[in-house]
Amino acid sequence: MMTSGNLAYFTKTRNLRLHHKIHTVRELRAAVCRTQPSTDISNGAVDEASVCTSTSDSESERVRCEISSSRQYVDREEFGEHGAAFLSGNYYPVVQEVTASCSCNERKAVDENPSMRVVGTIPTDFPLGQYAYVGPNPKFPVEHYKRWGQGPGQQDFGLGVGWHHWFEGDGMIYATDFCAGEKVKYRNRFIRTTSWERETKHGARIFRPLMNADGPTFLANALANFVQSGKFMKDSANTALLHFAGRTYALQDTCPPWELDAETLDTVSASTFDGKLPWYVPFTAHPKILPWTGELVFFGFNPVSPPHCTVGTLTPQGEVSSVNPLWSLPFVGSIFMHDFCVTEHFTIIFEGSMDIKPIRQILGIHPLQYNEGKRARFGVLNRGARSNNVSWFNCSCAQMVYHFINAWEDKNAKGEQLIVIVGVREDGFFHEAMRPNGSSAWVQQAVRIGDKIPRVHEWKINLVTGEVAEEYLFHVPMETPRINDKFVGMQNRYAYAGRILLSELETSTQLKFDAIVKIDLHERKTTVYEHGPNRYGMEAQFIARPGSEEEDDGWLIMYVHDESNMSADYQGCTQCVILDARNLEAGPVASISLPERVPYGAHCMWRADMIRPGETFKGAAHDTNVVAVDAKINPQNRPKLFAFTDSQKGELLDATARGISRLALGLFVHGWSPRIAFDDVSRYAFVRGAGLRLQELNGLEKARARQSNAEKMSDGLLIPTLELYDIEDDGSCRLVREVLNILDVAYVCKPCSQHLSKYRSELELLRGVPTGSEQIPYLRDTRDERVKKIGPDAIIQYLYNEYLDGEKPSFLVSLVGWFSKASARTNKTSGFTGSSTVLEQPLVFWAYEASPFCAVVRKALYELGLPHVVLPCARGSIRRDALYKRVGAFQVPFLEDPNTGVSLFESSDIVDYLKRMYTS
Ligand SMILES: [Fe+2]
Repeated sequence: MMTSGNLAYFTKTRNLRLHHKIHTVRELRAAVCRTQPSTDISNGAVDEASVCTSTSDSESERVRCEISSSRQYVDREEFGEHGAAFLSGNYYPVVQEVTASCSCNERKAVDENPSMRVVGTIPTDFPLGQYAYVGPNPKFPVEHYKRWGQGPGQQDFGLGVGWHHWFEGDGMIYATDFCAGEKVKYRNRFIRTTSWERETKHGARIFRPLMNADGPTFLANALANFVQSGKFMKDSANTALLHFAGRTYALQDTCPPWELDAETLDTVSASTFDGKLPWYVPFTAHPKILPWTGELVFFGFNPVSPPHCTVGTLTPQGEVSSVNPLWSLPFVGSIFMHDFCVTEHFTIIFEGSMDIKPIRQILGIHPLQYNEGKRARFGVLNRGARSNNVSWFNCSCAQMVYHFINAWEDKNAKGEQLIVIVGVREDGFFHEAMRPNGSSAWVQQAVRIGDKIPRVHEWKINLVTGEVAEEYLFHVPMETPRINDKFVGMQNRYAYAGRILLSELETSTQLKFDAIVKIDLHERKTTVYEHGPNRYGMEAQFIARPGSEEEDDGWLIMYVHDESNMSADYQGCTQCVILDARNLEAGPVASISLPERVPYGAHCMWRADMIRPGETFKGAAHDTNVVAVDAKINPQNRPKLFAFTDSQKGELLDATARGISRLALGLFVHGWSPRIAFDDVSRYAFVRGAGLRLQELNGLEKARARQSNAEKMSDGLLIPTLELYDIEDDGSCRLVREVLNILDVAYVCKPCSQHLSKYRSELELLRGVPTGSEQIPYLRDTRDERVKKIGPDAIIQYLYNEYLDGEKPSFLVSLVGWFSKASARTNKTSGFTGSSTVLEQPLVFWAYEASPFCAVVRKALYELGLPHVVLPCARGSIRRDALYKRVGAFQVPFLEDPNTGVSLFESSDIVDYLKRMYTS
């Protein structure tokens, strides 16, 4: 809900924007720039920092991000304090998988794709590649994430319940590709792990919460998970991304890496690196690639099964070269580990003070606790020695680190060897701040005292004396630090991290970064770029300028979410922002407004070998291939059977009556026949049960088979060769469409109204006759420019010759055709009401002629003059199976808009979308 205070602020912010009219990043750069000291949250020390801030880009309001239906806040009573925080606002999950692309050219981008565009200038030497981010994004509607037992399909068995935890949400990847031809492409995809597939098929959560399940509930839930799924905990692959040796992986501490198809981002499978990674070794979310050898070093932390800690390496080719189990403590417990360090010769693991002790369940508390009595320590392994000997070095007290910045080898004045480690020390802060309830009060207390706030800290391990010298380097609250990856394991100067907005943590317990901080370890100073009012950044990736030698010569790229104008149905817009790492004060050099928001998540990566390694965004040769555009929907967004609005009743009744009067012609594919077969849940079935399904066959034989094979090869998105110019409500045109359904032939429809339209003019040129005297329907086949068929008889004869090996039309077709001709040409076409929208690609319309629901959508497409590919789905069509496989359900109408990545099922939703997007 928007309070009066929020409303006043919103109004003030909006008025400011209207007055200033900041339209471009160049203007934005000059908007507000100031210098101020950063806030000291602990001991009065003040870091010198130059601070630059921006306002929201006012033009971002024009970008449509209203696709996800959602609410701003969920209830703390029902979801718990933590669950409510991490399911609200921009933590609210997105439901749709989208694909969209646009040109980098600002003006052209607005014209091409109103839902995605580039503001500012992507530097000419910016490399081709992919910025990708991942985070938890629960797939079911939020009511499934209430306190366990209150959500749909959940049962409490009396041992307590448990609450949803942010870490347990399903993984989703959000990728922005910088492609040849100055194109930018955006995609988001669920990571379809075994757990994801299992719960999706079930239609509700199976895995009970563990992170927020106290005492005996933890064990009961873990056992219930194992009984139902064979796993104690859910594998979500929601924490980090890795692109290594040509392969892309989604990572989570407690599960194996999940490989994604690097090109499509589809989930491939859990990876064992060709069977060489043992099943008991989970793969860290923070592996390190050694810049000097190209090898990858990893560790595995297993909280359940021994060995609890393992270290290993991969060759630059991605093959496992070593796996060394370190220790097992089956009854005592294990230490929670999230990150580690490497230097030239050493691998350094960190045993912080968060430990897991099964006995705590008997005491009624969660087995994972921040243990004030456990002193943290570093374990140093000599990689060259290839032994499992770990040398331990104790820290001064209990400590916790989620993320290290870097580590390197050095010597002191006495010539003694040191290992220098820099990281964000937080001493159990996030563990406490993410408790299911009571976390706000705890955070307020922690912020007031200040000693547990995440800050950059340095440890110097003296390998000769065994001493560990410690100090905080900065007092700005920060997290998710990154560096220039070329300096991993070597002494470096710069790091980049998100500044935590403590006031937000105190009030809503939401973790948000209101600024990006550049850390200078040499000068011990920071430069801060504030994202602007209501704007929050996600983890930043450093991208080196091609050929650069200086450590900070490059860019920072990150998603920044604008929470301005948030309401019950609108969670704001996200931009992909590029900053010059050497000149943060100048503000973004470019920002890309995305077609869908990116919920706040976890970690990011940069993939440099995506298309043409080494080529830059504008130096690359233009790619003549149009960027492939695809659209998928989350099976959660399943269609509702026979859903329609009150305003549609008249149209539906009219369409139903029309279908009856035409003897349901076009409802069945030629030669339709039913058959009982053994069930296969991956296939469409009209009816299924008792292990059987009703299979529908057709008699289209060879000619149709050739076309269907071609469609399969292109994932159902083949652009057909047939182009039909027709009128929606004309009897003869309808007869042609019915025959196309009977023959199951896809075609491009170019709607012509009785009034002037783009396609009427096009037809006039094709026919070489004045407007009004052209004959419609008109069909041409782009395979042969001589094929231009006019009128229903010629077209139908051509279709039967071409697609049914010369058979004659059935008696039913002839009968309805006779009625169509006899019943005078009423041609009661609706007037052309849409704009002459030029679409980069036609819409894709899965439908069949006899369906009244499809008729409602078809009417809107014709009225708006929108070209569309019709993929007929009459009974017996193979496309029913294709759609089922594509989106996990079959129902038509189903519309895909490859220009925006939007895909929708419901006729009312589709009509609303079309009018919103394409009415001038
Ligand atoms: Fe992490």
